[in-house]
Amino acid sequence: MMSCLQSWPEPVVRVQSLAESGISSIPKRYIKPPSQRPSSSSHNYNNLNSADDDDISIPVIDLQDLFGTDESLREAALACLSNACSEWGFFQVVNHGVSHQLMNQVREMWRGFFELPLEVKQEYSNSPTTYEGYGSRLGVDKGAILDWSDYYFLNFMPPELRSPEKWPSLPPSCRNLIEEYGNEAIRLCGRLIKILSITLGLGEDYLQNAFGGDNIGACLRVNFYPKCPQPDLTLGLSPHSDPGGMTVLLPDENVAGLQVRRGDSWITVKPIPNSFIVNIGDQIKVLSNAIYKSVEHRVIVNSNKDRVSLAFFYNPKSDLLIEPANKLVTKARPALFPAMTFDEYRLYIRTKGICGNEQV
Ligand code: OGA
Ligand code: NI
Repeated sequence: MMSCLQSWPEPVVRVQSLAESGISSIPKRYIKPPSQRPSSSSHNYNNLNSADDDDISIPVIDLQDLFGTDESLREAALACLSNACSEWGFFQVVNHGVSHQLMNQVREMWRGFFELPLEVKQEYSNSPTTYEGYGSRLGVDKGAILDWSDYYFLNFMPPELRSPEKWPSLPPSCRNLIEEYGNEAIRLCGRLIKILSITLGLGEDYLQNAFGGDNIGACLRVNFYPKCPQPDLTLGLSPHSDPGGMTVLLPDENVAGLQVRRGDSWITVKPIPNSFIVNIGDQIKVLSNAIYKSVEHRVIVNSNKDRVSLAFFYNPKSDLLIEPANKLVTKARPALFPAMTFDEYRLYIRTKGICGNEQV
């Protein structure tokens, strides 16, 4: 199995190059089966009833309330967060303390990277051994139906996995900004995980300690979703849950695209300016014994705007056993998951993804 991880099974096609070539219909390998298309009937809730589409959205959490001194605001925010994690697996955060200027700078810097000439970007082409670098597919299944996106993936933590020479050297501010943004994202995740731990009744340090204290893992995937001439036939990113601990997404200010599963329907997230979209990953779901949900999501594309997003993944140290917290395991609710390290879990997911399953 390891040998099938060494290289891509087919020549890599950059979706951005395809989009810019001026084609009016997309190649077959991006066309999803009818049941998986954005507006397939079983997931058509939003389109059938556009009034509901406006009403329903993921919860919004104000971190100033959560960390402030007003007890009643704090209680309300804690309740809202707890409900968001158990019902939605997703929320947006405002007043999060990360500089809006930095958020805009880092997003526009990455947009600048994707605007570089193809041959410059190709120097950073990735392979399925580590995924680090510039990529256009997940999994090495020959003949697989692909998603309409390119991406850049890099490791940020632990420091020994960080290899700035694999980060773009252009635009010139790139490496510094990645580092500055990464540190801010880690700080934000550290604050959030404390609160999640409290709302689970575990004491504020439980989850962080289960993640390895200061020795957490973290990585960044920058997604680039080019304009698509036939957005109804494909997806920017297929449905998946995030395998890690928690994800902080910096969305595009101008274009929606992320959809969150809610029962049989897909809810489009409308990004609030200067906010982050946060979601629970599989590892927190395990630690919480499924009290908190790791919810499926996907990305749709459109015909008139490119979209850039930065997904920052905050993960447990990869060789620690992750299992449901004792306190959340009872006779009435036995442990729903076996103990497994994140390394083992990731291998399991990647193998499934690689050997014929559509899961990311
Ligand atoms: C991801 C992801 C959503 C988006 O990268 O895992 O879900 O809006 N991204 O790009
Ligand atoms: Ni995701």
